[in-house]
Amino acid sequence: MSSREECVSIDLEGRSYNIVVGEGSLHAATTFEGLPSAHAALIVSNTTIAPLYAATLRSAIKSRFPVVHEVLLPDGEAYKNWETLQLIFDALLSNACDRKTVLFALGGGVVGDMTGFAAASYMRGVPFVQVPTTLLAQVDSSVGGKTAINHPQGKNMIGAFYQPRLVVCDLATLDSLPLRELSAGLAEVIKYGPIADVDFLDWLESSIEDLMARDRAALAHAVRRSCEIKAWVVSQDEKETGLRAILNFGHTFGHAIEAGMGYGVWLHGEGVAAGMVMAAELSRRLGLVDAAFVERLTALIARAGLPTKGPVLDAADNAGRYLELMRIDKKSEGGEIRFVLIDGPGKAVVRAAPDALVREVIDACCG
Ligand code: NAD
Ligand code: GLY
Repeated sequence: MSSREECVSIDLEGRSYNIVVGEGSLHAATTFEGLPSAHAALIVSNTTIAPLYAATLRSAIKSRFPVVHEVLLPDGEAYKNWETLQLIFDALLSNACDRKTVLFALGGGVVGDMTGFAAASYMRGVPFVQVPTTLLAQVDSSVGGKTAINHPQGKNMIGAFYQPRLVVCDLATLDSLPLRELSAGLAEVIKYGPIADVDFLDWLESSIEDLMARDRAALAHAVRRSCEIKAWVVSQDEKETGLRAILNFGHTFGHAIEAGMGYGVWLHGEGVAAGMVMAAELSRRLGLVDAAFVERLTALIARAGLPTKGPVLDAADNAGRYLELMRIDKKSEGGEIRFVLIDGPGKAVVRAAPDALVREVIDACCG
């Protein structure tokens, strides 16, 4: 590991792995030293990212894998589905890849989630590595082993828990990220403050402009601290039987926005941003936080260039449409929606809320 790299470990007994956070890590063969050896690797990427970074990754791993195949997926959340997943299986089978083949997910959360799901199911499981190239993927989706595709009726509804062998976050890849995508990633960074770490929330308030300006030191701290918090949560509750659900702060409303608008219209992070404001406001109306906390969080989200209000999904009955979509959420139990709420800054709880109150929040927070 070079001096400009740091390593966060995720402790999962036989499935522990490292998250490397560095600058230029993608160039170094040493980054990939601990991986199992195999005859072949498959780089899974998309048509936007591969021209930027696939040659670099290929060069870094070529000494470990005599044959490196590549498959490029269409770019976008709208393609996170069965048809696109099939392209990965087609590439594996047409190249006669065996069960030792290592998959590399080179891209954002969409490529990562689909590659992980393909790795979980090809020959009942092959090793895979996450090489996240968006801020969102570096701070969240590449870590923790959630893999999935969308269903037209619900976000991430079909998938598996399947851990990568290594996560490589090269901060240099964030230089080419469009600003809107950087902001979307900041939504997932911000979420860690209210749910788990008030000091981090304070730091974000003093550093948000540096992050928006892609200051490398600020980004390094944000990625490392986010990964530390996520690793701490996932190590205690890998399969989301309890604690891990707090990582979905803002996501119940956010997933409804994504599905209701049509996948790809609102970015995932944008839905989460507006969703966090709604969840904070619901927390306030339930007496868990005060108005000052909601204002504080809303202001930070706005400074990160993110929406603080949700869209209107149905002009006739907007709240009804949100409720209908939110009932398909994975946290729902027996049709009852369960929300991640803030129970004082730095502490999250998961609980149901009366429909009437949720309707009031949606009416107040959309438009
Ligand atoms: P994304 O994968 O669609 O990437 C965003 C856009 O940026 C794409 O157009 C992509 O091609 C482009 N891009 C990626 N890296 C780039 C770079 N370095 N330079 C230029 N362009 C680049 O979106 P995302 O925000 O990374 O991920 C969102 C997805 O992640 C959603 O599907 C969400 O459900 C999922 N997610 C999963 C988890 C999990 O735990 N598995 C957690 C959070 C989000
Ligand atoms: N992004 C939420 C989780 O990984 O649990």
